[in-house]
Amino acid sequence: MINIQPSDLIGKGVHRKCYIHPENANQCIKIVYRGGQAETIREQKYYRYLAKRGIPWEMLAQFHGNVETNFGIGAVFDFVRDDDGNASKTLDAYFKSTDETTVSYANIFQCLCELKHYLLENNIITMGLKPRNILYKRLSQTTGRCVIVDNIGNSDFIPICTYNKFLGNKKILRKWDRFEKALSKEYHDNTKLKNFILQLRQS
Ligand SMILES: Nc1ncnc2c1ncn2[C@@H]1O[C@H](COP(=O)(O)OP(=O)(O)OP(=O)(O)O)[C@@H](O)[C@H]1O
Ligand SMILES: [Mg+2]
Repeated sequence: MINIQPSDLIGKGVHRKCYIHPENANQCIKIVYRGGQAETIREQKYYRYLAKRGIPWEMLAQFHGNVETNFGIGAVFDFVRDDDGNASKTLDAYFKSTDETTVSYANIFQCLCELKHYLLENNIITMGLKPRNILYKRLSQTTGRCVIVDNIGNSDFIPICTYNKFLGNKKILRKWDRFEKALSKEYHDNTKLKNFILQLRQS
């Protein structure tokens, strides 16, 4: 049984709270606080499938199984940190601010191009790409990596795209296109971002 303190909280989504693992600083524990476990079960099945396939985990936080905690059952993942040791921030947090002093949009968009190729190369299907589910892991002022922490897998009744790379890649490109369109819509007030989104669409 792992004992989590409320102060271990790193982030909170609509369904889950994410805590730093009290016994392993490189991992975090996610606990459902709203809704059922169905989504978690579906997600974990997909993570196990990817693990079996032996994919590289550099742009997807790896799943390490479930543990029992004082707050209930929790799912253990790699904890994504920046070079200063702090929890990496979501793309949403970066795009809502226009402050580029610690990280430039140019870096983030370079990393987004790499993320797109990583997903295609490894045929990793996402339910939907959202800026609040992608972290920017800052490695230095000019380098970093985008890491997906939520919402992967395929809920199709017959999930053929999971097993067929040609069809899977078509699905990934469709999701990516939707993601880019959503970025231009969601952050239309951020004029600095516009050029980068255009560049991303041409890459
Ligand atoms: N592996 C991780 N490393 C560092 N921080 C993380 C990690 N996973 C999640 N977080 C933080 O915790 C927040 C909530 O986690 P997560 O997105 O998994 O919850 P959720 O309830 O499933 O989200 P949603 O609201 O998108 O359904 C994230 O937005 C992020 O800030
Ligand atoms: Mg989320």
